[in-house]
Amino acid sequence: TRPLKVALLGCGVVGSEVARIMTTHADDLAARIGAPVELVGVAVRRPDRVREGIDPALVTTDATALVKRGDLDIVVEVIGGIEPARTLIGTAFEHGASVVSANKALLAQDGAALHAAAEEQGRDLYYEAAVAGAILLIRPLRESLAGDKVNRVLGIVNGTTNFILDKMDSTGAGYQEALDEATALGYAEADPTADVEGFDAAAKAAILAGIAFHTRVGLDDVYREGMTEVTAADFASAKEMGCTIKLLAICERAGDGASVTARVHPAMIPLSHPLASVRGAYNAVFVESDASGQLMFYGPGAGGAPTASAVLGDLVAVGRNRISGTTGPGASAYAALPVSPMGEV
Ligand code: HSE
Repeated sequence: TRPLKVALLGCGVVGSEVARIMTTHADDLAARIGAPVELVGVAVRRPDRVREGIDPALVTTDATALVKRGDLDIVVEVIGGIEPARTLIGTAFEHGASVVSANKALLAQDGAALHAAAEEQGRDLYYEAAVAGAILLIRPLRESLAGDKVNRVLGIVNGTTNFILDKMDSTGAGYQEALDEATALGYAEADPTADVEGFDAAAKAAILAGIAFHTRVGLDDVYREGMTEVTAADFASAKEMGCTIKLLAICERAGDGASVTARVHPAMIPLSHPLASVRGAYNAVFVESDASGQLMFYGPGAGGAPTASAVLGDLVAVGRNRISGTTGPGASAYAALPVSPMGEV
């Protein structure tokens, strides 16, 4: 079988792990896919910063020329952010490639348009790594549970804030003290706004709600409240009631199942609920459905190797589709369920 040609856009923490595993696990990947995979180009902004182990002959700063080669099977986009990622993905579709992306911001904002573009060109768009790193959510929700009916998704989908809230809960620390520790340990960014104000979780909620309910949920449809106002006193009251406090992404059917809502806010959960035991920077997503009842997906929601694991799983799935001449579930798999603004149902 001819090798599948793969281009990598971005070679930071996740991209370099993808390249490394593609090399070290080449035989396993070839066996899973049914054809060898060949990394033919790595587009970066700063070639002087490319990590060891990447063949310098593959490195280019011209991502556009790379995706226009015309012979690519799969483009792996791990640049992040809206542009140039969005344009590069569109160009990749036009020039014959399917795409595996880890881009949460882009999928949350433009998922519908990207799915439509992929479908129009007969390509795949897979993005397991865009929500909660290594945790398998996208394919379980859109494929494994496609014959069931999901009613509610409750997620701890931001590791930084879960670390902070866990610290407050277990030590009685205040918000600032717990945030300082999260920063010192490298969980929180220098500017933690996206995490603590719930923007990161809201983007993940938009993607999850769309996938779980086979509909389109935009970022603007997600009600968002951060966790900066949660105090040590709130934890003390929660404890008295046998509860803890988590920043939850809550996506559920509303109005007798005819529409959906998605929201992110701090919530009290009983200590007996499985989500209460999610400690530190871990993520977990609790799914309630008609037939399967309750499911929980748990694991590391960030980090180079865990996120690369999800990217490579997609690479195998898309690789198989290329070989068999098919594509996975696309935009047409989604019916239109109206999204209710909060408070209307
Ligand atoms: N800042 C995110 C988190 C990383 O803390 O979960 C992955 O989106």
